[in-house]
Amino acid sequence: MDRSDLEQAGQGHLFAGWERRPPAQRQRLIESLADLEPARLRRLQELLRRPGGPAAERAAGPAALAPAPVQAPSAAAAARWAARGREQLARGSWALLTVAGGQGTRLGFDAPKGMFPVTPIRRATLFQVFAEKLLAARAAFGAAVPWFIMTSPLNHAATARYFAEQDYFGLPKADVRLFRQGTNPVLSAAGDLLLAPDGGLLLSPDGAGGVFAALQRAGLIAAARARGIAHLFYFQVDNPLVTVPDAAFLGAHLEAGSEFSTKVVAKLHAGERVGVAALTGGRPGIVEYSDLDPALAAERTPRGELRFRYGSIAIHLIDVEFAAAQAAALPVHLARKRQPVQWPLAASGAAEQDVVKFEQFVFDLIPQARGALFYAVDRAEEFAPLKNRTGADSIATCTAGQIARARRWLRHCGVAVAERARDGAPLAVEISPRYALDLPTLQQRLPAAVTRIDDHTLLDC
Ligand code: UTP
Repeated sequence: MDRSDLEQAGQGHLFAGWERRPPAQRQRLIESLADLEPARLRRLQELLRRPGGPAAERAAGPAALAPAPVQAPSAAAAARWAARGREQLARGSWALLTVAGGQGTRLGFDAPKGMFPVTPIRRATLFQVFAEKLLAARAAFGAAVPWFIMTSPLNHAATARYFAEQDYFGLPKADVRLFRQGTNPVLSAAGDLLLAPDGGLLLSPDGAGGVFAALQRAGLIAAARARGIAHLFYFQVDNPLVTVPDAAFLGAHLEAGSEFSTKVVAKLHAGERVGVAALTGGRPGIVEYSDLDPALAAERTPRGELRFRYGSIAIHLIDVEFAAAQAAALPVHLARKRQPVQWPLAASGAAEQDVVKFEQFVFDLIPQARGALFYAVDRAEEFAPLKNRTGADSIATCTAGQIARARRWLRHCGVAVAERARDGAPLAVEISPRYALDLPTLQQRLPAAVTRIDDHTLLDC
């Protein structure tokens, strides 16, 4: 949009004091307006005016809500699915898809979150851990599959520089495909465009759900098709325990004829802030904790379990063709936040203000999917997200989760692991994906002579 479009749309305030602004700020504004289309601005403003927004539309009321069926695999079923999944993994009909475009404001780390040194001993970064998982799987299955990584315009350059500096962790450069998600303008509570502290339009990433449109725009749907890739292992950048690829998950997905499958875990308590697997008017989906009536969230079955027992951990298996067909169908959600804004306080510099951001969610596609599957996994094995500096889902809990899983795997291998190391600190142990991607590999690799671990230990290469 240009100045006259914006003035017509009642957004002339963006140009207040134009002559007095430094040339760099004027340039930023002009550049950042280039991608803004009038129809999109109108659509976002209408969304803001609509009472309740899309969340209220989806909250169909208690009567229409029921727990969704969840596949909780028995050992026999898991073995059958794993065999089927392994065949597909060996065919190379899959890729990893990481969403890493978030702003990571809660963690307060001033680099892309994937660059956070996350492992207990090596301090390997999240990106390094995922790269090692992919390298190990490529070797194990003889499959030269790619890794799609979504960045945002805010962190793309830093992410690309990091991968180049690390020489793509030994992956072929052409198989590490970084692509940018889109942005939406941030609006004031009254629906007006705002200026960022750098003088440009205030923008924010369009949510993890922007991934489907972004894959299309980057030509990666076409690239996936050309390589015979049918399934995407989708995961967030913040969980070092994610099991990727997962043969049993893929086998279950295929057996269910699912286009979109989701890993779920038993909720810790009724009020846990995770979306639950539910049927809304008979259709499967995720109902966000904020849309679930607390009384309903607390309901229990005669066996004493929570009725809405399973929460999503945002790990999915998504068919490429489904993603391609549905990209345009996602609704837009509104998030009210406070953040530094330049206008209308230009005279006094940037100041915090109530703003509205617009985001799409990946799980909104579930109701559209054929055979949508919810697949129950053990939280301790697969989920230790890094979201916050301290408290829940923090650096401390994420590190503890990684150590606990390594200890458990070693115990399964008959190794006694001491509680404390020789220096008196809690014993830290790390098993790198280069050493063993999974428990069966660890069982094969660990020398029989290792029966005890009494000090901090790294198993690597
Ligand atoms: P979060 O909801 O944890 O958000 O994203 P965040 O932006 O990373 O962190 P906070 O809320 O500012 O602290 C979950 C996953 O979705 C990705 C994130 O990178 C993370 O992997 N994401 C989120 C995107 O890729 N794009 C977005 O626009 C939002």
